[in-house]
Amino acid sequence: MQTLKLRTVINLPAIKQEFIRNVAVSTAAVKANEDVPAVKSWKDIPGPSSLPVIGQLLHFIPGGQFHNVNGVELTDLLNKTYGPIVRFDPIVGRPALIFLFDAESSSQIFRGENWLPIRPGFKSLEYYRKHHNKTKEQLELPTGLITDHGDLWKNFRSAVNPVMLQPKTIKLYTTAIDEVAQDMITRMKTLRNENGMLNAKFDDEMNLWALESIAIVALGCRLNCLDPNLPKDSPAMKLIQCVHDIFIAADKLDFKPSVWRFISTPTFKKAMKLYEDQENIAKYFVRQGVEQLKKNPTKSDEQKGVLEKLLEINEEYAYIMASDMLFAGVDTASNTMTATLYLLAKNPEKQEKLREEVLSKKDKKPYLRACIKESFRVMPIVSGNIRLTTKEYNLLGYHIPKDIHIAFGHQHMSLMETYYPRAKEFIPERWLAEKTDPLYHGNTHPFAYAPFGFGVRSCIGRRIAELEIETFLTRVIENFKVEWVGPPPRVHQTSLNYIKGPFNFIFKDV
Ligand code: HEM
Repeated sequence: MQTLKLRTVINLPAIKQEFIRNVAVSTAAVKANEDVPAVKSWKDIPGPSSLPVIGQLLHFIPGGQFHNVNGVELTDLLNKTYGPIVRFDPIVGRPALIFLFDAESSSQIFRGENWLPIRPGFKSLEYYRKHHNKTKEQLELPTGLITDHGDLWKNFRSAVNPVMLQPKTIKLYTTAIDEVAQDMITRMKTLRNENGMLNAKFDDEMNLWALESIAIVALGCRLNCLDPNLPKDSPAMKLIQCVHDIFIAADKLDFKPSVWRFISTPTFKKAMKLYEDQENIAKYFVRQGVEQLKKNPTKSDEQKGVLEKLLEINEEYAYIMASDMLFAGVDTASNTMTATLYLLAKNPEKQEKLREEVLSKKDKKPYLRACIKESFRVMPIVSGNIRLTTKEYNLLGYHIPKDIHIAFGHQHMSLMETYYPRAKEFIPERWLAEKTDPLYHGNTHPFAYAPFGFGVRSCIGRRIAELEIETFLTRVIENFKVEWVGPPPRVHQTSLNYIKGPFNFIFKDV
């Protein structure tokens, strides 16, 4: 029974052949590696030294070598000090964590865990959805792809995959997403001052665009977030703020040492309230979307959109999936857009090349796609990924037991010269280069870079995000020459990489 269900996940038409091949290769890779005797225990993996009681925390408190070291600087320091594999001991509420800066070892874990992968991420959100003010019976109910694991996750994912990953369905949104992009351009033009800068907070603006765009797919209607008279306390603005605050609170609770599992800390209380608010606002929007659909059902099957198709499959899944789209689809797309614009502004010759392609109005836009891929490599919104081991592995000569968190330092690996020549430079051409070109991306290990994750658990919103970003970037480049003045933006790494102001963009008419 279980095997049959698993097969449903694997055989879904929307999952590419390539992936099936990956799984086959994976078994071989893991087996081959299992034959090599592990010489050392995972406890011998290099890592920061430890003191009784506070363990490795001593390095993160004031005076410690990692105090206030964040993001790429931290991974850089870890890799330089300890090498390609770094050990963090278990701390309250979290098992041991092994950091990998090695693409081949990352592939072993990703492939080895690709049947029912567990991505231990948003534990506090999982707690809220499964336990906070819930009855025992509610524990068995699905809560969504971000927080479910095992059979609950598998059943949900196999039900929504054919809708969310079907290119034909996503293509239905091309015109509506482009209308949002054009409305955003109009809004940017009205917000511009005489210097070409926006008289508004740039990150808020990108969030409004991202929410308006994802709502088209999640709810099948416009939220009108781009309305210049949108009140500060409107549900749309509240949702944006809420999602942003959630990623920050979740980072403190789930990705940094925290005792919230034992003591109800102020951040924990704040997070529970934020999760509740997000759930209520999202439900409010989804109800509106469902009501509209019930009043005007689509006649032909081909014209049915995501929400309508999900509702036909399972109403409960439809509500949860739509609400998770509003959660996962805002800050991710908006910060990616900001990063891409910044990189193009700093590389005017690449921007000009992209403009030529955009203005040519050709159907295929390989350089546009290459610019976005390169932006994911150089300034990704997600710094890495994580899996829980459900079996034993031999990694780089160390024996890795079950129930260990493995974190993959993709952002760091993507910027390593070992994997990408001229790694720190923004060179979209590498994604289009011929095999004979030293920049050819195919020369590198495929697991050094994984902006949307890997395998059966990879990002379900990928096609939607790509459509939104490609469409909006096309419109921006068609309308504006984008420049940047002053120092580079700061990037604040929480569970996402947030690009922080001041946003020194100048938008000149083309
Ligand atoms: C630039 C945009 C985005 C990036 C870079 C991104 C990246 C990711 C990554 C790295 C994962 C983890 C995958 C893994 O564990 O292998 C993920 C999961 C997920 N993403 Fe995205 N994402 C983006 C946009 C979106 C959008 C627009 C949506 C909503 C439609 C979305 C919904 C989700 C969901 C629901 C999951 C959990 C999937 C599962 O566990 O089965 N993401 N995303």
